[in-house]
Amino acid sequence: MGALPGTAATGMTVNTALCFRGKKILAPMVRVGTLPMRLLALDYGADIVYCEELIDIKMLQCKRIINEVLETVDFIAPNERVVFRTCERERHCVVFQMGSADAERALAVAKLVENDVAGIDINMGCPKEYSTKDFSGFNSINFFVLMITTKMTRLSEGGMGAALLSDPDRIESILTTLVKGICKPVTCKIRILPSVEDTVNLVKRIEKTGVAAIAVHGRKKEERPQHPVHCDVIKAISEAVSIPVIANGGSHDFIKEYTDIETFQKATAASSVMIARAAMWNPSIFRKEGFVPLKDVMQNYIKYAVRYDNHYTNTKYCLCQMLREQLETTQGKKLHAAQSTQEICEAFEMADFYEKSTAIFEAKKTSSETETQNEDDQLEDPDVIKMAVRFDKREYPPQITPKMYLLEWCRKEKHPQPVYETVQRPLDRLFCSVVTVAEQKYRSTLWDKSKKLAEQAAAIVCLRTLGVPEGKLCEGENHLISKRKREDQEHLNNRDHGEDLAEPSHKKANFIEESSDRNVRKMPQ
Ligand code: FNR
Repeated sequence: MGALPGTAATGMTVNTALCFRGKKILAPMVRVGTLPMRLLALDYGADIVYCEELIDIKMLQCKRIINEVLETVDFIAPNERVVFRTCERERHCVVFQMGSADAERALAVAKLVENDVAGIDINMGCPKEYSTKDFSGFNSINFFVLMITTKMTRLSEGGMGAALLSDPDRIESILTTLVKGICKPVTCKIRILPSVEDTVNLVKRIEKTGVAAIAVHGRKKEERPQHPVHCDVIKAISEAVSIPVIANGGSHDFIKEYTDIETFQKATAASSVMIARAAMWNPSIFRKEGFVPLKDVMQNYIKYAVRYDNHYTNTKYCLCQMLREQLETTQGKKLHAAQSTQEICEAFEMADFYEKSTAIFEAKKTSSETETQNEDDQLEDPDVIKMAVRFDKREYPPQITPKMYLLEWCRKEKHPQPVYETVQRPLDRLFCSVVTVAEQKYRSTLWDKSKKLAEQAAAIVCLRTLGVPEGKLCEGENHLISKRKREDQEHLNNRDHGEDLAEPSHKKANFIEESSDRNVRKMPQ
């Protein structure tokens, strides 16, 4: 993989603050602006790359994972799909674009990704219904029908995108919250309003929020991509504010090749130029020496797609955008028919590359699995008592867990509180916990989906080894449960007598399960 373009820098951090003056920028583009396209644009000379717009609600459901096989940082949705994938190579120059209509949610997402990106952008230019429409009045059936009829695949609550343009208070709130709340530069991308004056006033208001730059797509909300771009409006904005203005919208009329980028910049008096379609058709538009033949561009794109395990449907979509008029050629037809990354590679006579690359991946996966095994081996301390058990909540009364029983037993026996140490395997992200009780370690040999479950399993191993009841429904009466029942009964009696319902703290501590972190620090009374 080392021979692939742009991968050599992995592991290096370039810690520069983003500057938006004199830059050539890859625009955010849904489906197009994924990692392979961004890296290719950087290779060809783009200075800054924006990711495709990602919706705040969807991002908030994601987990951040370090993918050791691909050497990427992945944000993974609950359905295991990669929502955002990035890597060290672009860390200093990728701007994360988000769709949001809510300041707090936007901030939460920004904090989630802040350390992996160079800046955060709020999209205020998307005119599509799924972004702009306020769905609060819809019932679930209407909403479902609308989702199907508009082929809406993105989770959204509307009020985002271009709808924000008519809600400057909300714009102000989102941008101010972001600027105050994160350390990275914040930008936003707008479309122009019906009047130049209103547009300039809006941008002046946006400037006051402290954003580092503003990207202006020089079209109105209702204008289509083939309508002429309003360079005069972008120019009026550039002259009215002192923050960098990034001119966008020139692909159709202006930007046919590299030298046109400067022409567009001059026509708009902007600080930087952002390119979408011209870069989607041929990302080597950013190359000052001129275009690279499309065949080479597509092959380089495929290399990145394979290297970063891009979903084949996305790879296919981007290649179709590049092939455009050539979709009817033999190669175009093969691409159209391809149902996997392998078949795409075959269509581009890159079957050998695919084989070699996947062999390298397999080797990496195997070595990562071996590392995982080694981690297991480290846990294979012969002094640790092990059993293959899992915690199943259904086997216990509500609010009762093995961890509580173990804590209670330790108190009774005057042992220090149990100490849980949990590790997570990078490969499958499962957890294993080791609990230390009276200087003896216990663990389950089964790995769990969460830290909580892993700790409960470790507690069960300990309780079973010690022959102490673990609180299961099937155990029936035992001294600990009896004690608890007695306490509950006392508590009820107190209630019946109208006494204070709050439990004395020493009693409450008995059956409150503390997290392992707190367990380490807090000793019971
Ligand atoms: C876009 N555009 C866009 N804009 C944005 O802010 N976020 C996004 O996710 C997308 N998605 C997107 C997908 C595709 C396929 C296209 C073609 C466009 C709009 C884009 O960034 C840009 O504003 C316009 O295309 C105008 O710029 P060009 O194409 O004239 O350079």
